[in-house]
Amino acid sequence: MFANWKCNKTVDQAIAWLEEFECFLKTRSLTDVEFVICPPFPYLPVLSASIEKSCLDVSLASQTISDVSSGSFTGEVSAEMVTSWVKYSLIGHSEQRMSRKITDEKVADTVVLCQKSNISPVVCVSNLEQIKNLIKNSLVKRDGLLIAFEPLESISHDGNFNPADPDKVLDFINLAKEIVPDAEFIYGGSVNPDCFGSYLDIPLKGFLVGQSSLDPEIFYNLAAYAKDT
Ligand code: PGA
Repeated sequence: MFANWKCNKTVDQAIAWLEEFECFLKTRSLTDVEFVICPPFPYLPVLSASIEKSCLDVSLASQTISDVSSGSFTGEVSAEMVTSWVKYSLIGHSEQRMSRKITDEKVADTVVLCQKSNISPVVCVSNLEQIKNLIKNSLVKRDGLLIAFEPLESISHDGNFNPADPDKVLDFINLAKEIVPDAEFIYGGSVNPDCFGSYLDIPLKGFLVGQSSLDPEIFYNLAAYAKDT
């Protein structure tokens, strides 16, 4: 279960989220569920330290990563800069693809950089073409590659959800698996307590949750519901 906080929370709110989440985990540790928080970059060190101190079974991911490894690139954050804090990195989230005009080719190059730095990339896609272009790069390791399917129209805006039709998600996953059978798939886009159950029969490895991850109780309860179903 990935919590994509996007551009939300102050550092104090981030720490408070983790403390509250820890209480839920202590009440009932969902042992075989992997929780991954994707906070804004500046919170990675402090959250990493808190996780270590409390021996929490939670990992971190960056929300994006640069396609350069070092040099004169103002504002860029490279894979090797975050590698001691993160296990995963989102790559090619549609909000990044749009605002920073990132091409499929650059997404693939970044995936390769991440894999070289021992960070597991979570490649966000909204169509099959993006998957086809990803694997055109022969250096991308496909085995166990995590791909997050996020239909553009289903990503929530201003707290408004627009969940995708589960049948369409299933169709996409089946077609995507034909293109890259060694990959694992997660789903994201308006995942919330009302629609979550409708995706649980789809062969998915997990979920990338935005808006509904901002509240630790809602996020935790999604995972608890999945386990109980
Ligand atoms: P959402 O965001 O759950 O708020 O739709 C998901 C995402 O964009 O990762």
